[in-house]
Amino acid sequence: MLKVGIIGVGTVGSSVCQILEANKDIITARAGVEITPVSGVVHNLSKKRDVSIKLTDNVDDILNDDSIDIVVELMGGVEQPYEVVKKALQKGKAVVTANKALLAYHRYDLQDIAGDTAFEFEAAVAGGIPIINALRDGLSANHIESIKGIMNGTCNYMLTRMINDGVEYEDILKESQELGYAEADPTFDVGGFDAAHKLLILASIAYGIDAKPEDILIEGIENINSDDIAFAKEFDYSLKLLAIAKTNEDEVELRVHPVLIPNSEMISKIDGVMNGVSVIGDKVGETMYYGPGAGGDATASAVIANIIDIARSGKSTPMLGFNKPLESGLKLANIDNMVTKYYLRLEVEDKSGVLAKVATILGDKNISIKTMVQKASKTNSVNLLLSTHSCKELDIKNALKELKNAGVVNSEPTMIRIEE
Ligand code: NDP
Ligand code: HSE
Repeated sequence: MLKVGIIGVGTVGSSVCQILEANKDIITARAGVEITPVSGVVHNLSKKRDVSIKLTDNVDDILNDDSIDIVVELMGGVEQPYEVVKKALQKGKAVVTANKALLAYHRYDLQDIAGDTAFEFEAAVAGGIPIINALRDGLSANHIESIKGIMNGTCNYMLTRMINDGVEYEDILKESQELGYAEADPTFDVGGFDAAHKLLILASIAYGIDAKPEDILIEGIENINSDDIAFAKEFDYSLKLLAIAKTNEDEVELRVHPVLIPNSEMISKIDGVMNGVSVIGDKVGETMYYGPGAGGDATASAVIANIIDIARSGKSTPMLGFNKPLESGLKLANIDNMVTKYYLRLEVEDKSGVLAKVATILGDKNISIKTMVQKASKTNSVNLLLSTHSCKELDIKNALKELKNAGVVNSEPTMIRIEE
């Protein structure tokens, strides 16, 4: 029998306990050994929960229990789980985690600490989709040219409901929290950080890049409003929060931000809490992965797959797929040099000469306007909704700065990149 201690018996931890019980026969058959969750750690012992394991509020009860073979970390956070996981590995216990925030900051030192001890994290990226397995094992013969994914279920759920049902931002955020999709602090979701954590994990496996969230472009969906949604609909775009890794010669762009994508693209069809990831390998071409990216059971499915893997072999492949940071020679690209198309929302005075000023400032930076719509806003003010032809990121940023400095816009402009 393999004994499991679960640190954090919340949304995911409870599902892990329930599925280990409900699917015991098939799990035992696949693992070749019975897997039993013996105890769990929670913060609040008086909270009612639907699990039958012994609960404690002291992590050491699990870490010091020599009969426990595998520690499953499902408490969330960064530094506290880091200490817990480190201790578990130092005691020779295998570890499984779903915690992407932990790995965004500590994946390389944890890989060193783990050494030959199994450390698995399939659920940390795209919940129930086996994307770590695909990238680390299935595609390991390839140079990875790009990874493009919808990796935050909460944002995708919110954007889908805003587009399809016209629901307001605040109402829909509350709903996704109630459904168990959102992080304990939902700013991780809507601010793009959760997707960035996942992108960094995938970029380590694909490129051996040792970047932190602070090193890459991260923008969330907080400023998206009904005008942006109306523009997307009018011009046949879908609005998604994308996490993108793209190589170009000796550089790799890593970025997370809202994107307008033509409705003809496959990834635009991924709606609701579903996640979808496209990976292009130099030999295999494009591969697509689709499935539930959040929620207790879907995430627990990936956690238990890792436990079964450990039960079968006793050790994992090197945690990030190679023993040392991969010497791919790729360095992080400066996003200011990126060239793409842009959508802009500018709140301006409704009077003569304003449009000319906007066109002049954009024109001076070689930014060519492709489409333009004017929408009524507050009294005396209108929203100009523009899309541009391809131009450089730095030119757009400078143009927006100049529009503000020249007093042409009445509020902070909104800029959304278009991926075509
Ligand atoms: P929850 O907030 O539902 O559960 C966290 C659990 O950890 C709770 O049982 C909580 O106790 C316990 N806990 C937190 N801090 C402490 C502490 N200091 N001491 C003891 N116990 C503590 O989170 P989720 O289950 O949603 O998420 C768990 C992990 O899985 C996170 O890293 C998350 O990012 C990741 N994840 C979540 C997904 C999802 O869809 N929910 C999907 C993919 C990954 P108590 O119940 O008493 O508060
Ligand atoms: N909060 C995350 C999401 C959970 O919404 O995708 C899965 O990592």
